[in-house]
Amino acid sequence: MHRIELASLSLAYRLLNPGTLVLVSVGDGERDNLFPVSWNMPVCDDPPVVAVLSAREHFSFSFIERTGELALNVPGAELLDAVYGCGKTSGREVPDKFIRFGLHREPASQLRVPLVAEAVASLECRVDRILDVEGCGLIVARIVAARAAAEHFRGDDWQFDRGLRLLHHLSGNRFCVSDAVVEARHHDRPPTPATPRAAQ
Ligand SMILES: Cc1cc2nc3c(=O)[nH]c(=O)nc-3n(C[C@H](O)[C@H](O)[C@H](O)COP(=O)(O)O)c2cc1C
Repeated sequence: MHRIELASLSLAYRLLNPGTLVLVSVGDGERDNLFPVSWNMPVCDDPPVVAVLSAREHFSFSFIERTGELALNVPGAELLDAVYGCGKTSGREVPDKFIRFGLHREPASQLRVPLVAEAVASLECRVDRILDVEGCGLIVARIVAARAAAEHFRGDDWQFDRGLRLLHHLSGNRFCVSDAVVEARHHDRPPTPATPRAAQ
């Protein structure tokens, strides 16, 4: 395999992309807002904890600091333009990103933050702590409720047989989608013989 050295280590994170992009919703009961976050990760499954990295200057960040609440909405690929639009505008200038980008609010079960009705999943989170990392806020939050589209999240896992396509951010306006499951062979079982190709 021919390999290249990355010219800049500041691009190295792109090798770890793509994780599922999330559209974060915030709000205080009077005003709300949305911003996409590709730098998100699970931290612990029990108790359920996630982390997202946010620039402190984002309009949304002040809501998270003040209310201690945020929701991670998982968009399907059909929301691509809305997601990108939410990430290229600020709530400082756009009074209502839901309306501007054709999205709808759904009440959360535990938070004042609205959920994105069109998302295929939403995780309601309460901030546990915010760590300062190079001037950004690493928000560590406890998941207090989670819901997912029953047609796509079955048997405790995402299924891609009914048209689910998850979004993954590469860079700029470039994304890729995941739309299939591949299963690795169990290491203690013999390899499956290669299937002969059908005669042309
Ligand atoms: C695809 C995409 C992914 C993004 N991921 C992040 C991220 O992980 N962390 C972050 O702080 N900002 C991220 N941003 C930038 C914010 O979403 C963007 O600055 C947004 O306009 C902030 O909105 P606000 O000022 O209304 O809060 C991303 C933007 C895009 C388009």
